[in-house]
Amino acid sequence: MAKEKIAVLTSGGDAPGMNAAVRAVVRAGINKGLGVVGVHRGYNGLLNGDVVEMNLRSVSDTINRGGTVLYTARSKEYNTPEGVEKAARYCNSLGVKGVVVIGGDGSFRGARDLTAHGVPCVCIPGTIDNDIACSEYTIGFDTAMNTAMEMVDKIRDTAQSHDRCSVVEVMGRRCGDIALQAGIAVGATSILVPEIEHDLERDVVSRILATQATGKKHFIIVVAEGVGGVEEIARFVQERTGIESRATVLGHVQRGGSPTLRDRVVASMMGHKAVELLISGASNRVVAMRDGRITDIDITEGLSMERVFDKNLYQIAMDISI
Ligand code: F6P
Repeated sequence: MAKEKIAVLTSGGDAPGMNAAVRAVVRAGINKGLGVVGVHRGYNGLLNGDVVEMNLRSVSDTINRGGTVLYTARSKEYNTPEGVEKAARYCNSLGVKGVVVIGGDGSFRGARDLTAHGVPCVCIPGTIDNDIACSEYTIGFDTAMNTAMEMVDKIRDTAQSHDRCSVVEVMGRRCGDIALQAGIAVGATSILVPEIEHDLERDVVSRILATQATGKKHFIIVVAEGVGGVEEIARFVQERTGIESRATVLGHVQRGGSPTLRDRVVASMMGHKAVELLISGASNRVVAMRDGRITDIDITEGLSMERVFDKNLYQIAMDISI
C-alpha cells in the first residue's frame, strides 16, 4: 500500500481496551507517515460521512478509558449490498487506502465485504465475549471477567450473611468463557455454559446438597448468558433445597470500566500489528492471538473456524468447587 491514508473504526458492542487499540492504530499509523481518519459509530460513519482527522494528540488520555472514543454501532444499513457499496465509494472519495475494524465477528463480516469492494481491511478482535474462533483472546475479555468477579464477590458478601444461594448471569452471548473464568475465580458451586449440556438436578441441586452436607451454607451459581433463565434456576434451587435463593443479571456493567493491563497491552500490540499489515499490502486479515503470540489470519478463514471450549478447565472447575 502506498503510504497514504487509513481509517479506523469500532463496531458492534463496545469493549474495554478498544480505545487502546484505536490509540495504537493512530500513533503507529502517523509515526509511519500515514494520515489516519477516525470513523464514528462503526460502519454508519462511512455511510454518513461522520469521520474526523486524527492526530497524535487525538488519542491522548484514552488508554485508561472504557468504552470507545470513536463511538460504536451495529449498522443495519451497512449490512446490505447497497450499504457496502456506498461505504466503499465514500472510502475512495476520502482517499482511504485501508480500514482497521475493531469489533466482533459481525464486524469482521462487514470488513470482508468492504475488502471485496476494493477497500483493504484488517480486523482486530474487540469484544468482551472472547468468542472469536481464530483468536485465543479478544480485547475486553480480561476487564469483563475481572468486573464479573468483583461484582460476584460483592454478591457473595450478602449471600454469606443470609445463608443464601445466589444465581448470577454473566454476559458472553453464546460463549461460556466469561462464566467459566469468573466462575472459577469466585469459587462457584456450579457453572452453567452453553457449550456443556446440563441437568439442573444433577449439576446444580445435587452439588449444592453435597457441599451443604460438608458444612457449606451459602452458594454461588454462575450462569452464562447463553444459558440464561437465572430467575427460574433460583426458584428451582429454592424449591428443591429449601435454601433461600436470589437471581442477579450482571448485564452491561461488564462492558464498562477502565481496561485492565492485559487489555491495554494486547490492544496496543494488535493495533500496531494492524497498521503494519496494511502498510505491507495485506488485506482481508484478522489480527489474532494464537499460541500466545500476535499473528494474523485471513478473515474468511477465521470466520469459518469453530471455537473450542476449554472442557479441561471446566472439569477442573467442577473438581475443585465441591
Ligand atoms: O457482544 C458483547 C455483548 O455484551 C454480549 O455479551 C451481549 O450478548 C450483547 O453484547 C449485548 O448487546 P447490547 O449491548 O446490544 O444489549
